[in-house]
Amino acid sequence: MQVVIQPDAEAIASLVADEIERLLSRKPDAVLGLATGSSPLAIYDELVRRHEAGRVSFAGARAFMLDEYVGLPEDHPERYRNVIEREIAGRVDFAPGAVQGPDGNAEDIPAACAAYEAAIADAGGVDLQILGIGTDGHIAFNEPGSSLASRTRIKTLTSQTRRDNARFFGGDVEAVPRHCVTQGLATIMSAHHLVLVATGPGKAEAVHHLVEGAVSAMWPATVMQHHPRATVLVDPAAASRLQLGDYYREVFEHRPAWQKL
Ligand code: F6R
Repeated sequence: MQVVIQPDAEAIASLVADEIERLLSRKPDAVLGLATGSSPLAIYDELVRRHEAGRVSFAGARAFMLDEYVGLPEDHPERYRNVIEREIAGRVDFAPGAVQGPDGNAEDIPAACAAYEAAIADAGGVDLQILGIGTDGHIAFNEPGSSLASRTRIKTLTSQTRRDNARFFGGDVEAVPRHCVTQGLATIMSAHHLVLVATGPGKAEAVHHLVEGAVSAMWPATVMQHHPRATVLVDPAAASRLQLGDYYREVFEHRPAWQKL
């Protein structure tokens, strides 16, 4: 696992956008994995800037979202499909239908989850997966106790996650859906490159477990320790509980010239 400590969200976004720009220039039909929430927003803004500057095109690319709330009306602004459209998909040049997400309103949720897994596999898998991390250590919506071998399925959000996400619902915890459909931990682990970003002191404990804790379903993100190519980008506040913070800084500072993220 590569741990990169950067001064702020903008510096993190710039490094991740560099990596995505390199990927799309080498492989214009790359498959991206998109997260929602606040963590990736600076990355999306930076990608939009680079797209508008003519540096990066998504015209041949495809993307798969990580998760979706169950039961929100199709036009609800916090439905993740609408969030992704607003924050990235509708601001760049993805082809129609190139961005897919799990269906949180399907009549047959298990069948829709299986179809979503098949669609990711048919696309050849995800090349680069952007991830945030919950304060309880979830990635996508794989809450504590999730099977490390899980695939796309319905999950129940913890009250901690619903409290954390109430800020997107006018502060009303009861307005945050109880259920979601989420890629599983094994689904995420199938991606070629995992890029997790976290900022702020509220993420420090989860980041400590992710990087330095024992692999456990209690901190689902720790499964990433088994991934051959996982990059964790954090600001100093999110890195504040890392025991080897100085070492991670030294490694990044002295990385070989050819080594990117
Ligand atoms: C959202 C997702 C979640 C968030 C996590 C952190 O698609 O997969 O795992 O990344 O809840 O959310 P923020 O970034 O809002 O702190």
